[in-house]
Amino acid sequence: MNYIGIDLGTSAVKLMLMKADGEILKIVSEEYPVSFPQPGWSEQNPEDWYTAVIKGVKELTEGFDKSEIAGIGSGGQMHGLVALDENDQVIRPAILWNDGRTTEETDYLNNVIGKDKLSKYTGNIAFAGFTAPKILWMKKHEKENFDKIKKIMLPKDYINYRLTGVHCTDYSDASGMLLLDVANKTWSKEMVEICGISEEVLPKLYESYDVVGTLKSDIASELGLSESVKVVAGAGDNAAAAVGTGTVGDGECNISLGTSGTLFVASKDFKVDSNNALHAFDHADGKFHLMGCMLSAASCKKWWFEDIMKTDDYAGEEGKITKFGENHVYFLPYLMGERCPHNDPSARGAFIGMTMDTTREEMSQAVLEGILFGLRDSLEIARSLGIKIERSKICGGGSRGISKKLAASIMNLKFDVIANEQGPSLGGAMLAAVGCGDYATVEDAAKAIVKVVETIEPDPELVKKYEERYKKFKSFYPLLKGNF
Ligand code: XUL
Repeated sequence: MNYIGIDLGTSAVKLMLMKADGEILKIVSEEYPVSFPQPGWSEQNPEDWYTAVIKGVKELTEGFDKSEIAGIGSGGQMHGLVALDENDQVIRPAILWNDGRTTEETDYLNNVIGKDKLSKYTGNIAFAGFTAPKILWMKKHEKENFDKIKKIMLPKDYINYRLTGVHCTDYSDASGMLLLDVANKTWSKEMVEICGISEEVLPKLYESYDVVGTLKSDIASELGLSESVKVVAGAGDNAAAAVGTGTVGDGECNISLGTSGTLFVASKDFKVDSNNALHAFDHADGKFHLMGCMLSAASCKKWWFEDIMKTDDYAGEEGKITKFGENHVYFLPYLMGERCPHNDPSARGAFIGMTMDTTREEMSQAVLEGILFGLRDSLEIARSLGIKIERSKICGGGSRGISKKLAASIMNLKFDVIANEQGPSLGGAMLAAVGCGDYATVEDAAKAIVKVVETIEPDPELVKKYEERYKKFKSFYPLLKGNF
């Protein structure tokens, strides 16, 4: 049988058709806009996601035997608040994971309710992009909209809801709402009360590989698929990407360089660090993970090359970079504020250290290095917890070009490159294959499907040079903090 994997990203949805043995038959993608109605705000129209998914599925399945398609699984951008009214209409545009409007609500949760209580209720503290602070923001600033709420869901859950009519989510994605008691896998009664909602508005919880329903008949006929096609709950995009790179079980690490940058460590036990600097979430394999998330990774590259340098020739620009480890220019990648480790929606990007002879190449290099230094901050937190990370998988558009090699030396990590670095869409398809019974567990699917083809080693000379440069990078944010 064949499976459709959906990666509902921030700039586009990517869809993949996969055979049960992991062979990828086709990949398509459809873009949609993000709006930034005020500095630091970030919104999308859920209808745009749905339209893109439907168009994408039609294009994806064209030319293939549609009766062979058995299941659909999604990985989706996390934390976004999608709220529906009593007529199932979207009340306002979705407020996305990288939206920083909730400074006041985040401060209220962390300082008035208190981090200790939040951590006890959910395993996590509040970060501006999480869903609970957004609910509080709506309650304060859009009371009329807040009063209309009958259903709350996350971005990929909206797609599943439109496809099946089932109001559901999975544990990995629900972990990022700050409404879930992550360790015990139930909604937190305390957090529900703090947000002033009732538990009935929240989706039903499932494991990522659980089948939540089948295609509604009108959708099945529009897509030319059978009504018996099963839809699994799916996962947050990082958990789905981890499945797609075989980062399951215990101790495995994945780095994803998409619009955001994340460091993801799979764990068989529930773990929390004492400062809650890393997110302690459920994983799509039924276990747990720790994650550090920086808000702007590949999006810094895109901003620099496309918006500022007015080129889409990333390879050409990167090809001119030769002086690895020796740049005097630094870039702080905080274009949308920063989550891990600073938890500061007001942080902003900066170039530091230019001279009259600074070149275009050095500034491009600083952007690539700044993204990886930013993610190293999360790696250092994980290492400080005693988690031994010596090798990792890597995926996402931002890891193309020279970034993988750079990352190996900047982070002093070996990178196991896998045959199909498709991240969340592959993970989504694999979860569907598990839900439909082709594999007994997510770990079995990963063993059968994910193949390492090459290992990139850090260069010891560059490791030394980058160690020094990372120290300097780390010193800049505290100096600039009060001035953003
Ligand atoms: C993770 C996070 C991002 C989004 C990006 O906590 O906010 O990685 O999921 O889609």
